Amino acid sequence: MHVCTLVGARPQFIKAAAVSPALKEAGIKETLVHSGQHYDKLLSQVFFDELGVPAPVVNLETGSGSHATQTGYIMVRLEKFINETGPYDAVIVYGDTNTTLAGALVAAKGNIPLAHVESGMRSFNQLMPEEINRIVTDRLSKWLFAPTEIATQNLKQEGLEENTILVGDVMLDATHMFVERAQELYPLESVTRHHPREYFLSTIHRPSNTDNEENLRGIFDAFGQLPLPVVLPLHPRTKAVLTGITIPDNVEVTRPASYLEMLTLTLNANRVITDSGGLQKEAYWFGVPCIILREETEYPEMFKNNWSICTGANEQSIVSATIVKPSGPQCRLGEGPEGYASAMIARSLAG
Ligand code: UD1
Repeated sequence: MHVCTLVGARPQFIKAAAVSPALKEAGIKETLVHSGQHYDKLLSQVFFDELGVPAPVVNLETGSGSHATQTGYIMVRLEKFINETGPYDAVIVYGDTNTTLAGALVAAKGNIPLAHVESGMRSFNQLMPEEINRIVTDRLSKWLFAPTEIATQNLKQEGLEENTILVGDVMLDATHMFVERAQELYPLESVTRHHPREYFLSTIHRPSNTDNEENLRGIFDAFGQLPLPVVLPLHPRTKAVLTGITIPDNVEVTRPASYLEMLTLTLNANRVITDSGGLQKEAYWFGVPCIILREETEYPEMFKNNWSICTGANEQSIVSATIVKPSGPQCRLGEGPEGYASAMIARSLAG
């Protein structure tokens, strides 16, 4: 079996780091394509270097652009690549980015069976570009690899249960695979001067926050009222819009962190404050309470006992949420029925 995997944005490199070795183990040949959606070294190359993801055979060098530009560009170049290097037995796409959508459309129109890893996640908010990408990709997929029970229910409601396979969350696999290495290579003192539990860790990159000055102000005004420093590894999207926003003295803006650095920072944080889909789960798995800078999450399991709280960008809600303590145990999140999700994905594909 020969599969073509398309990655392009930071979280997809992490997911491929878990799935690619499992494919190899199952005897599946993989050709890895990088769409070029993320092109900064700190958003892309470091992940390959650090996680041992096989080097992409080609980089489609898409870069930034409007949604249509980015999606269209990837489609044109991927279709050509696939036609020149195929045939492929499957195309694998991850998550919900424009890269995911482009890969899904090319596979579907080329009659190549499509596998969607992290299928069935829904925020029920179509103002998020990711929600549109997810819905379309799921509709076109032959293998819907769902990370959670709720994801399988979402797919059932859309009439897609026949092709749904609950496998668990490949990002949980990645944390298991890399957490020890993170602590060895990046002990806390090498990534921050703060002591364990004496800082908040934040990331902000969603358009709902970065493209809305009122929201950004609400978030930074809240940060200024917090009793601990806020470590903020900054995505270039956010950096570009920060002019005009006053950064409070207790906020430490840093370059984007690598995955391993981020694992260490997350493990030791007092709380995580983020609009990222992946980081909210990592905080949960490490038992660190999380404040979600969005109105909703795809993982409502995390609300139980206040392990996660959605505050949007509301200044007062953010400040209040930082003193809420979880009131009981967590539920299971992302654990697969057969252990590692990646291994189950590989077995399902190998059929
Ligand atoms: C994308 C995904 C989002 C995912 C995130 C992870 C979509 C619609 N969004 O958001 O779901 O959570 O990746 O990080 O696909 N930029 C750079 N350098 C880069 C990449 C981006 O400077 O290497 C800047 C550019 O100004 C660009 C902006 O970030 O215009 C947005 O990049 P884009 O890839 O469109 O989306 P993300 O915000 O990264």
